[in-house]
Amino acid sequence: MKVLIVFTHPSKNSFNHALLENIISGLKQAGHEIRIKDLYKENFNPILTGDDLTMLHTNNIPEKIDKEQQQLLWADSLIFIYPLWWFDRPAMLKGWFDVVLTNGLAFEYSSEGVKGLLKHKKALVIITAGGSKQYFIDNDALQLIHRPVTDGTLSFCGIKDVSHQIYYDISNLSDTERQDILNETKTAGLEF
Ligand SMILES: Cc1cc2nc3c(=O)[nH]c(=O)nc-3n(C[C@H](O)[C@H](O)[C@H](O)COP(=O)(O)O)c2cc1C
Repeated sequence: MKVLIVFTHPSKNSFNHALLENIISGLKQAGHEIRIKDLYKENFNPILTGDDLTMLHTNNIPEKIDKEQQQLLWADSLIFIYPLWWFDRPAMLKGWFDVVLTNGLAFEYSSEGVKGLLKHKKALVIITAGGSKQYFIDNDALQLIHRPVTDGTLSFCGIKDVSHQIYYDISNLSDTERQDILNETKTAGLEF
């Protein structure tokens, strides 16, 4: 399988980065072909500009968008790894979606309504959160964590096979709990 990992965290010594390394190792062991988009490392520009929109409206794809879209189209499967920031994805990742998932490539409007065009891909979303699971339950906020990405973005674009894994309370985990999560992520890669 051709797997594109979209990784969004600015620090190399973060837990997210350790998750990235583990999933890569699992995917490699399973024999998948992998490409990694490390958005901060490559200094990705997440801004969809007025000029970009003008070009898109006349069916001209700006070069920077075309480059990203070719990587997306190459992949059978997408894996997103990111920390929860303000109940959502980091702005850098939101910007990647803004730039890449354009009308005509990822979805289109038809007489029957919106049609997702990325039907044959599957996705895994791995999220870390500072809050405890109980906090999100008490505040009726569990859905808020994954709905913007799972439903509002991926499913909207036709990707129905989306699984997500959320790891809570990251800064309060014991070393053993951290290691268990790292092992689980490697297994997710192996079983992908
Ligand atoms: C800008 C910012 C916003 C954050 N917003 C949330 C939030 O809304 N909910 C939450 O549970 N944690 C939030 N956090 C905590 C991070 O999710 C947590 O520190 C991260 O998942 C831990 O992983 P890391 O060590 O790889 O950074 C936020 C952290 C930052 C820096």
